[in-house]
Amino acid sequence: MFDISVDDFGALPDGREAQLYTLTNEQGMSVKITNYGGIITELWAPDKNGTSADVVLGFDKLEDYLDGSPYFGALIGRVGNRIDGGKFTLDGKIYQLAKNENDTSHLHGGNVGFDKVLWDAETEVTEDGAELHLEYVSADGEEGYPGELTVNVTYRLTADNELYTDYKATTTKATPVNLTQHSYFNLAGKGSVEDQLMMINADKYTPINDVLIPTGKLADVAGTPFDLGEPKAIGAEVNADHPQLKIAGGYDHNYVLNKPQEGEMSLAAEVVDPQSGRVLQVHTTEPGIQFYSGNFLDGTLTGKGGEVYEKHAGFCLEPQHFPDSPNQSNFKSIILQPGDVYSSTMTFSFSVSK
Ligand code: BGC
Repeated sequence: MFDISVDDFGALPDGREAQLYTLTNEQGMSVKITNYGGIITELWAPDKNGTSADVVLGFDKLEDYLDGSPYFGALIGRVGNRIDGGKFTLDGKIYQLAKNENDTSHLHGGNVGFDKVLWDAETEVTEDGAELHLEYVSADGEEGYPGELTVNVTYRLTADNELYTDYKATTTKATPVNLTQHSYFNLAGKGSVEDQLMMINADKYTPINDVLIPTGKLADVAGTPFDLGEPKAIGAEVNADHPQLKIAGGYDHNYVLNKPQEGEMSLAAEVVDPQSGRVLQVHTTEPGIQFYSGNFLDGTLTGKGGEVYEKHAGFCLEPQHFPDSPNQSNFKSIILQPGDVYSSTMTFSFSVSK
């Protein structure tokens, strides 16, 4: 059986109220999601002894998210990750978006991305799980993007400790779309993630230039700190003397997933916390995944329960199409055409190892 409850999460500056939805299953897993930014604020998963911990970073209060969050737990769009110079050409027209990262790049949808808007929400218990349906209509021209984009996201907590996320979108004009989820995980619940073992199912990644934009090349991970084909502690080589790690202060790279079939759900990553035994698997239909090792956390943010978030306090695994796709002719297109339906699915599955 599943349970869904709803609480007030506070008011936005314009007076609208945000809600906090709690989805619970019988296996001891629960997730709290607010319709502000579709943010996962808490995710409780059992360890090998059955003791649950909250394994995502975030804040206690809506005000803290409004004050500035590094996208903790949020839905990301219209285009996740970076667009070089915030500029792209589509059907012969040049579009200039906000350069909201160091005045050089467009990051995670701009000044007010999907992480900062209030989504319409409905809950439903089905035989598959406890579901939260979110809808947001992004106006034609919002953040500089063409076309009115209608986005539907379903979060579902299943009986077997899986948080499933499905994304659909339609548009009135051709527009780039690359939606993802920006949870920062720490399978121990607190402290550093450096001892947690990361496996990413990828033989290649997309190296970046000094402002974190892909160079356009695909590089082999073999023989480098980027080789996570076999599980490796996140901290083992995060500070290694590799130019790509120096640029980003750790891992902040898009991996080119090994996929049996394009567009099919497949295993992208598996993370194990040896201490607690918690295991997280990420499956996705997307061709890439951003592995970000929380390099820009620097102890200035205090999160839930007074936890100070130091460097590497959490990691993100963001399924996606490759960064800067609108400007990279050898990356798959992220242009959605009117009449077509954007579709993407990902799961975060929790289990334990002994
Ligand atoms: C990016 C990081 C960025 C972070 C925002 C990640 O998806 O790859 O470079 O700092 O989001 O906190």
